[in-house]
Amino acid sequence: MNGMEKLAVIIIVTLLYIGVSFGAEIADDELASMEKANTLFKSRDGIVCPGLRLTEEDMAQWRGLKFGMFIHWGLYAIPGQGEWVMYNQKIPADEYVKLADEFNSQRFDADQWAQIAKDAGMKYMVLTARHHDGFCLWDSPSSYKDFTSVKTAAKRDFVKEYVQACRDAGLKVGIYYSLMDWRFPGYFKPKELQENALLMKEQCWGQVEELCTRYGPIDILWYDGGWLAHQGTDADGAWLWGSVKLNQMVRKYNPKTVINPRSGWEGDFNCNEGGDTISGPIIPFPWEKCLNLNKVSWGYQPKQNLMGYEEIINMLLDIFTRDGNVLLNVGPDADGVIPPAHVQRLRQVGKWMAEHAESIYGTRGGPFQPTEHYGSTHKGNKIYVHIRNWPQDGTITLPAIAQTIQSSSILTGGKVSVQQDEKSILIEVPLVDRRLLDTVVILELDKPVTAIL
Ligand code: GLC
Repeated sequence: MNGMEKLAVIIIVTLLYIGVSFGAEIADDELASMEKANTLFKSRDGIVCPGLRLTEEDMAQWRGLKFGMFIHWGLYAIPGQGEWVMYNQKIPADEYVKLADEFNSQRFDADQWAQIAKDAGMKYMVLTARHHDGFCLWDSPSSYKDFTSVKTAAKRDFVKEYVQACRDAGLKVGIYYSLMDWRFPGYFKPKELQENALLMKEQCWGQVEELCTRYGPIDILWYDGGWLAHQGTDADGAWLWGSVKLNQMVRKYNPKTVINPRSGWEGDFNCNEGGDTISGPIIPFPWEKCLNLNKVSWGYQPKQNLMGYEEIINMLLDIFTRDGNVLLNVGPDADGVIPPAHVQRLRQVGKWMAEHAESIYGTRGGPFQPTEHYGSTHKGNKIYVHIRNWPQDGTITLPAIAQTIQSSSILTGGKVSVQQDEKSILIEVPLVDRRLLDTVVILELDKPVTAIL
C-alpha cells in the first residue's frame, strides 16, 4: 500500500465509524414513520417535528413568489435520454463516470438562465446541484470519488455561478439535492449493505452542509430521492438519513431556508409532481406543483413534446386559485443551453404573467372555492375573480361575503357590472371585454379577506 492508499483507507474507516455512530442514533419516531403517501401528494406522512417547520409568516414570502424555474442539468444531458439514463440503461458506475470527461460546457451562462426565468415571470429557480447519478455541479469535498464538475473536465463550480446569477437577477435561490446516489450498492440494499449505505449517508450530510455554508443563505432546499431502493415513500427512508437531525443542521446554518418534504421530514411545503390536472377545493397547506415543460423527461432530450401555451396558463390558474406555487422544469442541453423552443414558450407565458401580475404575485388562493367557471385569488382588500369559462346565461354567481364591495374593474380593461346582496354576488362582463383564458374581475372591498369560504 502506498501513502495515498493508506490515507484513503484511514479516511474510509473513519467515515464508516462516524457513519455507524450516526446509524446508532436512528430515532424510534423516524422508524415508526413508515406509512405510505396518499395519492395526491408525496410524503404527507413525513416525520413531524414540532418547531422545525417555518411559521406561516416565514412562508408568506415563498408563497407569494408563485412561479419558479426548475432546472435539471447534469451529465445525463450528454446521452440525452433523460436524467434516469444511468439506471434505465443499466450503465455501470465506472462506465458512467466517463461522461464527466466530456462534460465541458462552453456555453453555460447562468445569467442567461436567470434572464429567461425572469422573462417567464418566474421569481425563483431550483437547480439540480446533484441528481441520483451522484455527479456534483459544485466543488464538493465530501463527494465520493471526487465526482464533481470542478475535479473533472469542466473545472467549474456551476452552483457558485448559478447562485450568483440568481442573486444578481433578484431571484430566490433554490437548490435541488438528491440524498441517494446510485453509485452506492448500499442504496439498493440498505439493510444488507448497511455500511455502504451509511457511507452514502455520510456523503449526503457532508454535501448538504456544504451547500448550506458555501454559497450564502440558500432560500429553498429541494430534496429528492429520500426513498430507498426505489421503494416506498421518502418518509420510509428517514431511518437511514436521519431526516429530522439533517434538517436541524440546515436550520442551524440558515433558520429561514424553505425545505421540501422529500428527505423524510414533513418539510415546510408539500410537493405534487407531474403534469396531471389539479382540481377540487383549495388546498389548505403550502404546496408546490413541479412539472415539465418538455413532457418527455426532466433532463435534456433532443426529443421534444412541449406543453402548449394554453395548457400552461390553465395549469397555472388551476394551481394559483388553489393556493399553490408552480415549479416548471427545463432541461438545458449538455452545453448548458436551454433549447430555443423552451425559451420561446416561456416568453409567451411571461407576457401573460406580466399582464396578470397584480392578480398573481403576493396573492393567496380564494376566498371562493374554484368551480368549473371561475377561481379566485386575493391580496389585502382586493379579490381577483378569475373567470375562465362563462356560463350559458353569462352571469357569474359568487357566494356572499362579509365585506362590502366598494368598486370593481377588469384587470385588462373594459366594463363590468357587479351586484352584491346578502345572498350572493353577480358579475356580468360584455363579450367584447372577456378574455379567452382568464378574465380577471377585481373586487375592491371595505375590509381585507380573512377567511376562505
Ligand atoms: C423524481 C425523479 C427525478 C426528478 C424528480 C423531480 O423524483 O426521480 O428524476 O428529478 O422526480 O421532481
